[in-house]
Amino acid sequence: MLQSTRMTVLDKSFHIGGVLIDPPLALAPMAEVTDTYYRSLVKELGGAGLVVSEFISAEGLTRDNTRTKAMLAFDEKERPVAIQIYGGDPDRMDDAAAIVEEQGVDIVDVNMGCPVRKVVSSGAGSALLKDFDRAARVVEKIKKRVKIPVTVKVRKGWESDDVIPLLKRFEDIGVASIAIHGRTRNEAYTGASDWGYIAQAKSELGIPVFGNGDVKTPADAIRMFETTGVDGVMIGRAALHNPFIFRDILALVNGVPTGNEVDRRIDAMHRYLAKIDGAPQVINWKLHKARTVIGWFSKGIAHGKDIRNGLADITSVADVRRLLDAARVRMAA
Ligand SMILES: Cc1cc2nc3c(=O)[nH]c(=O)nc-3n(C[C@H](O)[C@H](O)[C@H](O)COP(=O)(O)O)c2cc1C
Repeated sequence: MLQSTRMTVLDKSFHIGGVLIDPPLALAPMAEVTDTYYRSLVKELGGAGLVVSEFISAEGLTRDNTRTKAMLAFDEKERPVAIQIYGGDPDRMDDAAAIVEEQGVDIVDVNMGCPVRKVVSSGAGSALLKDFDRAARVVEKIKKRVKIPVTVKVRKGWESDDVIPLLKRFEDIGVASIAIHGRTRNEAYTGASDWGYIAQAKSELGIPVFGNGDVKTPADAIRMFETTGVDGVMIGRAALHNPFIFRDILALVNGVPTGNEVDRRIDAMHRYLAKIDGAPQVINWKLHKARTVIGWFSKGIAHGKDIRNGLADITSVADVRRLLDAARVRMAA
C-alpha cells in the first residue's frame, strides 16, 4: 500500500508555466554552491527535475558587473534551469529579470528568503516579506517585463508565519510557482522547517508549491510529499554531502538499489573535477572549489579522511586526481 502511495506521489510531474518539472524534485539555490558546474553535475547524476542557481545580484547585473554576469552561465544539459535574482528595488529587478531572460534560461526566480544582514539591510531577500506592497510591486514589474515563467522563493515570514496573503497576491499577479522554506527570517537556520505551514500554504494556493527545509534523507522527501501535499520537494544542504539524493529518492520509490557508494562517489568527484578543470576561472578558484566540494563528497567513505588531509597541499586539479587514485589503491589493498 505504502509502495503504491509513493509511486503516485513521485509520478506527479507538473508544469511551471510551460516548463515540465519531472521528476518533481529540485536542487535548491545555494550561494557559492549551485553554479553551473555543481548544477550540471547534480543533473547528470540524475533525479533532479529542476536546478536553481545561486542568488545573483540585480544591482550587479544591471550595472553590467563582469563577475556578476559570469554567474549567469549555464549548460544546455541543465535544463530546465532557473536563475535566481535578488534585490530590493522594483525598478532594477525587472531590468535584471530581462537580462536573465536574454540568456535563454527556462525560469526566473525571485529571492525573498535570504536572511543575511547585508542583503536584508538593502531591502532585498527576506526583507521583502516585511513590505507586502513592495514585494508585490517587484513581482508585478518582473511579470510584465518577461515572458518566461516567474517564480518566487520565500520563507514563511519575517518573524511570524504570515506570508500566505502575499503568496495569494503573487498568484493573482501570475507567478507560476512558489517555493517555501518553512522558517522565518529571524529563525535563520535554527529550529525546524515548519511543514505544517507549508501544507497550509499548499492548500490555499492554486499554483504549484515546492516544500523546502530539512529534507535530509530520501525517506524525508517522501514524508514531505505525503504530509504536506506539495507538488515538488526542494533540497539544499543534503545535496552538499549527497549529490545523489535526488536519484536515491527515485531508487527508494522504485525499490531499486543505489549502487556501490565508494564507486559512485569517486566517479562524481572525477566528474566534478573535469568540469572545474575545464572552466575559464583562475587556478585559485579551481583549488578552492576542489577543496570544498571534494571535502563534502569524500565524507563517509573509506579513506575519505586521507583525501581531505591531502587537499591542504594541492596546487593543481591533477593533484586532486592523484589523491583520489591513491585512495582507490588503499581501498583495494
Ligand atoms: C550555503 C547555502 C547557501 C544558500 N543560498 C541561497 C540562495 O542563494 N538563495 C536562496 O533562495 N536560498 C539559499 N539558501 C537556502 C536554501 O535554498 C534552502 O532554502 C535552505 O537551506 C533550507 O533547505 P535545506 O534544509 O534543504 O537545506 C542557501 C542555503 C545554504 C545552506
